[in-house]
Amino acid sequence: METLNFMTPEQAEEIRNLFGTPVYVYDERSLRAAADSLLRFPHAYGLTARYAMKACSNAAILKIFDELGLLFDASSGFECERAFRAGIEAEKISLSSQEIPPGFASLFEKGIHFNACSLWQVEQFGELFPGCEIGLRFNPGLGSGSTNRTNTGGPAASFGIWHEQLDKVRSLTEKYELTVNLIHTHIGSGSDPQVWQRAANLSLDLVRQFPKVQALNLGGGFKVGRMPDEASTDLSEVGQPVKAAFIRLFEETGRKIHLEIEPGTYLMANAGSLLTTVGDVVDTGQKGYKFLKLDSGMNDLLRPSLYGAQHPVILIPGRKRACRDNYVVVGHCCESGDLITPQPGQPELLAVREMPEAAVGDLCVIEGTGAYCSSMAASNYNSFPQSPEVLLMENGTPRLIRKRQTLEQIIQNEV
Ligand code: LLP
Repeated sequence: METLNFMTPEQAEEIRNLFGTPVYVYDERSLRAAADSLLRFPHAYGLTARYAMKACSNAAILKIFDELGLLFDASSGFECERAFRAGIEAEKISLSSQEIPPGFASLFEKGIHFNACSLWQVEQFGELFPGCEIGLRFNPGLGSGSTNRTNTGGPAASFGIWHEQLDKVRSLTEKYELTVNLIHTHIGSGSDPQVWQRAANLSLDLVRQFPKVQALNLGGGFKVGRMPDEASTDLSEVGQPVKAAFIRLFEETGRKIHLEIEPGTYLMANAGSLLTTVGDVVDTGQKGYKFLKLDSGMNDLLRPSLYGAQHPVILIPGRKRACRDNYVVVGHCCESGDLITPQPGQPELLAVREMPEAAVGDLCVIEGTGAYCSSMAASNYNSFPQSPEVLLMENGTPRLIRKRQTLEQIIQNEV
């Protein structure tokens, strides 16, 4: 029997019996361990570790990270409000968004930190809050992500102020007498550690351009291996040279710059699994494939369809099976794009996974689904309800932290 990331097969079965499938399960022990290691990120003059709450925004998760001393990165006004409702204080939230949200003035007055992500945002902020402090998100000119769709730096990415537009930024900050207190960059998710380090150095060059900057936020993007053959970022390895660069800056300029980082994936990815049940097994003949059709799909887990992302799929047969077989794993949505096992690097093509012979009713666990799965699902497609979320507490007890959505809730705003 294959082992699961943080549960025993018996625990997985117990959770299925209690809450049904599909259901997301998050492991408190893994969350705490990831936060602990993040808080040990190398730094020279102080560290603020934020949780990029877009990765998984359930209040129970936010509360755990809050208790452990993490701060928060929000990417919309709604995320800020959601964090407030989870009891997170405004001072702990930093907003880097693709728009200045309606109601921004009251968010800022409550005490959130704001990073302007475009020249237009600097202009709008200046109109609202002349003379105030502001952070600036830059596109440092290079990016890295596991796919083009998750690369957020370089000329093909729209995120942040292009690094060559310093004159334009300066004229705006002068016009509105804004003090730039933080430089922010985030080059992508699943970044190559080498590129991440180079971007850190480019970001420090930007810090040199703004004498009043006290902190540099290097974003998130630490690559996490979800599949057994994928490597994870060694934080100490990427962090030590960056720490050395902060020290060099101090030696050159006398400025002690505070470091911020704000990952989502690193904290959540392998701390979550999606429990599903095999709903059907179909095949397309001798020259075709055998398909394992789950009671879940892109409405719970979009990453394979969107990025060709690879997730471990572990079948837990109801009874011992002597044989193994090769299956393409698919979701229950009515379209071919609902493919859970695309070919690595060629997401248009199907890949098979070898596993015990499957039967309808078997439990099937999709791992590495703590980050950007529940929060980024194609929710309500085919009118499937949002699935429940369960926290496997440190003492091994599963606690429901979000109920399954009902059909009434899906249609409640239709008029
Ligand atoms: N900071 C900013 C400003 C961001 O835009 C993001 C992610 C993060 C931090 C956290 O990045 P992380 O450490 O999670 O890589 N949905 C994709 C990832 C795209 C997230 C976009 N921004 C995925 O499923 O991998």
